[in-house]
Amino acid sequence: MKEEQAECGRLPSLLHEIGLELEKYQRFEHADALEKASIWRSALDRPLPEKGIGIDELKKEIAEILIPNGSQIPRAGCTSYITTGATTSSVLATLTASVASPQRIGLTAFNYLEELSLDWMAHMFELPSNMKGVYSSGGSVANIVAIGAARQWAFEQIGLDPSRDGIVKATRIYATDATHHTIQRAAAVLGLGRRSVQIVASDSMGRMLPEVLHKQIEADKSTGIVPVAVVGNAGTTSTGAIDKLAELGSVAKDQGIWFHIDGAYGLPGILDSRVRDLYKGLDMADSIIVDPHKWLGAPVGIGATYVRDRSILHRAFTQEVSDYLEGSLTHTQAQHSMDELGIPYFDFGVELSAPARGTVVWAIIREIGKNGLKERICRHNSMARMVAEAACAHPNLELVQEPTLSICCFRYVDERCTDLNQLNRDIHRRLVHNGTNIPSTAMVAGKLAIRPCFIGARTTWQHAQALVDEVLKVGKELVEENQK
Ligand SMILES: Cc1ncc(COP(=O)(O)O)c(C=O)c1O
Repeated sequence: MKEEQAECGRLPSLLHEIGLELEKYQRFEHADALEKASIWRSALDRPLPEKGIGIDELKKEIAEILIPNGSQIPRAGCTSYITTGATTSSVLATLTASVASPQRIGLTAFNYLEELSLDWMAHMFELPSNMKGVYSSGGSVANIVAIGAARQWAFEQIGLDPSRDGIVKATRIYATDATHHTIQRAAAVLGLGRRSVQIVASDSMGRMLPEVLHKQIEADKSTGIVPVAVVGNAGTTSTGAIDKLAELGSVAKDQGIWFHIDGAYGLPGILDSRVRDLYKGLDMADSIIVDPHKWLGAPVGIGATYVRDRSILHRAFTQEVSDYLEGSLTHTQAQHSMDELGIPYFDFGVELSAPARGTVVWAIIREIGKNGLKERICRHNSMARMVAEAACAHPNLELVQEPTLSICCFRYVDERCTDLNQLNRDIHRRLVHNGTNIPSTAMVAGKLAIRPCFIGARTTWQHAQALVDEVLKVGKELVEENQK
């Protein structure tokens, strides 16, 4: 059959069949992917096919070889890292946009949602009313875009254009050792160098000490270094701590430095009234990032950067005028969806071609509303608190750090064990291999902690309780095994 004909009419039945397989996958009744690795590897490991297998055989391979050997991350009991399975509405929106709006350009309903959804998030997370956003692939790129804006601003203050002419002076970015290392990479990508990231001392919760920050900036300025940004965290990756944003913002403002807030994970936490006050100082930020593919439950590939004035993004990321497209858009009054490119997001960041991610964020918010998200966030924060209470109450558990948001760092303790870090590392490995409750670990002030991060839409109180129970069971087993 000709390709043009084969492409028509098959989508509904194929989607239905794949949908059933994905639904089955989410019940996690199958073995872990690694158990049958030799089987699926040999099934996939073929030479470049000269002749295609056709859509029906392909669907069979997707259903039989790929789906049952997927990731544990969508599992409700998987609380590792800060990552989760996509919710149904977001999967639907991703699929729909990939078919009907494969780019975010043109005047279409999908592309209208790009700005609308960014504005909805800004409103929901109480960002300053003049902040405008741009989507990218996730926190890594969102941080590059934000630090790119900071770099542009810092150099413009001294009459230079770093995106046009490059970097001619040593620079500094101020962060803590709890700051996500994508800030270091952003510094590298933007030509500032990873070494330009100055680690500022923090308190026992991992929050930057404003007085130390102040002294460090003064010292750097006296040597001619250009301060580019102060980076505050609204939810660190290891523990979920929130910097004293208002205090850091004041130092940054007094010193005339760009104030960036990394809220990739934790910004949605502002919806929980119990912690809302910790976000005071958001209004002082020059840039803020948030990742819908974290707490909002979007499929991986969606981050957002907000700045006060998107013209700085344009100056920082413009590709400058090209010959290959300019001639095609001569209309002043749009009469067709392809007459206008719409908002030039492609000049506000590092991507030209990009999916219509706003559709996904719109679908998530439209489905459950601000109240639904608030309920999810409060539930997850409460689950972390519940684990903390359990850790405080049980003689074989220790709370390593009080939770701020939905991360709880705790560990198993037993006086018969001399190396608690190793014991907790072993507990963690056994939990992963058992495969029901899968947290991460984090080093907190020298203690290796078991670290669940509750963000999954399908994760329930029972999963939090089951994790605590399993840590206790496995800890006891391991200590007894080591005694033999
Ligand atoms: C606070 C923070 N910032 C940035 C990132 C990077 O995000 P991404 O993995 O989406 O690139 C993460 C990832 O966990 C994070 O926790």
